[in-house]
Amino acid sequence: MKIFVGITGASGSIYGGRLLRALVAAGHETTVCFSAGAVEVIRQEEYGAGLELLGAGSEKVLEAFFSRHDISPQAVEVALPDNIGHVYSSGTALLDGAAVCPCSMSTAASIAAGITGDLIHRVAGVALKEARPLVVVPREAPLSEIHLQNLLRIRQAGGHVLPAAPAFYHNPQSIEDLVDFIAGKVLDLLGADHQLFKRWEGI
Ligand SMILES: Cc1cc2nc3c(=O)[nH]c(=O)nc-3n(C[C@H](O)[C@H](O)[C@H](O)COP(=O)(O)O)c2cc1C
Repeated sequence: MKIFVGITGASGSIYGGRLLRALVAAGHETTVCFSAGAVEVIRQEEYGAGLELLGAGSEKVLEAFFSRHDISPQAVEVALPDNIGHVYSSGTALLDGAAVCPCSMSTAASIAAGITGDLIHRVAGVALKEARPLVVVPREAPLSEIHLQNLLRIRQAGGHVLPAAPAFYHNPQSIEDLVDFIAGKVLDLLGADHQLFKRWEGI
């Protein structure tokens, strides 16, 4: 499958990292686009993981991100957010699905309003107009009425809103288990097979 993943400046870049890793491992043709906000948040999150990235350029930050998530940078296409001329900017390109994971409230607002500030907004808007799967993974708490209205608009336009709110009934043992639950739910909505969590088989 041809899948586009937008990673934006909401906290929780680990969700996007685990999603990318699963897509690459399954052999999907994957394109990733990091917003400018994402690079700054990743800088903080990777720095927190013990990597000295404060003051480093964005290339170094993304290198640390790929390394932490055990993804070969050659295995994915990295699209620049200001590349509005990218192939997936057009509905004529047969993209199978798009995910914005994590999705900031700013990007959710742009998608809901149909504003194209960067490639991520454009690809999301194209997915909606072409009735192709779009999954947004918001991470914000609490949610204001404006946030909720924007997410409702995305849902009403045909997008899936999958909050970064993992379940606990599958007995997660690690942060990765929690994150994989969300990444797996994204893959379910994109129609891609995975084994990121054990499915409920009943009591
Ligand atoms: C450390 C840090 C954490 C942030 N966490 C969130 C968050 O969880 N959710 C959110 O909507 N915005 C969050 N933001 C704010 C966004 O990064 C900011 O609104 C940015 O403009 C989003 O741009 P983008 O959607 O183009 O990535 C955070 C910012 C920083 C610096």
